[in-house]
Amino acid sequence: MRHFLTTEDWTREELQALLDAARVFRADPFSDALARRSLAFVFFNPSMRTRSSFQVGAHQLGGHSVVLEPGGSSWPIEARDGVVMDGDAEEHAREVVPILSRYFDMIGVRSFPKFKIWSDDLTDPVLSAFAKYASVPVINMETIVHPCQELAMMMALQDRIGETDGRKFTLSWVPHPRPLNTAVANSALLMAAKFGFDVTIAVPDEAYRLDERFMSAAQESAAANGRSITMTTDLDAAYDGANVVYAKSWGAIPYFGRWDEEAALREKAGAARFMIDEEKMARTDNGVVSHCLPMRRNVKIADAVADSDRFLGVAEAENRLHVQKAVMARLAVEARS
Ligand code: CP
Repeated sequence: MRHFLTTEDWTREELQALLDAARVFRADPFSDALARRSLAFVFFNPSMRTRSSFQVGAHQLGGHSVVLEPGGSSWPIEARDGVVMDGDAEEHAREVVPILSRYFDMIGVRSFPKFKIWSDDLTDPVLSAFAKYASVPVINMETIVHPCQELAMMMALQDRIGETDGRKFTLSWVPHPRPLNTAVANSALLMAAKFGFDVTIAVPDEAYRLDERFMSAAQESAAANGRSITMTTDLDAAYDGANVVYAKSWGAIPYFGRWDEEAALREKAGAARFMIDEEKMARTDNGVVSHCLPMRRNVKIADAVADSDRFLGVAEAENRLHVQKAVMARLAVEARS
């Protein structure tokens, strides 16, 4: 039985097959790929797009979905083994996940990092527990990576620019009032490298380097494709000749748990200059811009860019519906075989 936890576990050909299937679902939305199937979508964190697109997608494939919100409308869950459960959690993943596996045919999980100790977050404790204790396929709906967002991004890019091999993909850190999850940045890096882009990561300071797990995986993909991964604090170099600018804000990993110090670092590094505007985009090779959304306008991306034809964020969000249907249908087929 196969899960969809990270695109690191899937080959480029397998991911391309999911993108091809997504385009079939876009052209012809309804099927019985999940007929008589029930799906649980477990949200430890808020969502608009993910929740809506998974539920609508399951419906369009003939399935029934239930959303669970541990700590909200359902019991808080502990995922770590061996802990004394004298805190908020009322039950353990060791019971919850086998029970969900008896009710449901597939389980989606969203569980963001705790933002205190990165080495703990890097183990992806909640998703790992679900994958370990589930006897049905598990889908990552965003933890420390966001693989469904990766597929949606690649679908939007292929639709707009066609061939991705040898094109320049700039992953630009952008400002936000708070330090955010690195998941989408990790994912954009993994996917762009796997699909043959030359990737430039633009950051205000070296402290914003992404975790070695994702840097190494991307470097392996880039080497296999004869491409490169570069990190720079030079915005002109990052934008010059770019075909794609992907915007994301994330917290600096060495400062995890010391966010006041990180705020001071941002100030010192002049982080506000990383907002994407027309002047920067003029340096690109008629480049497109995307973002996973939600997005703060005129903090991350200026109105003039977000409202222009360059902006693919809404198309990417639409694609979440199509690609997730492809993932759910694929996992359902594999679970039957
Ligand atoms: N991009 C994304 O995952 O959106 P939501 O947080 O609204 O689900």
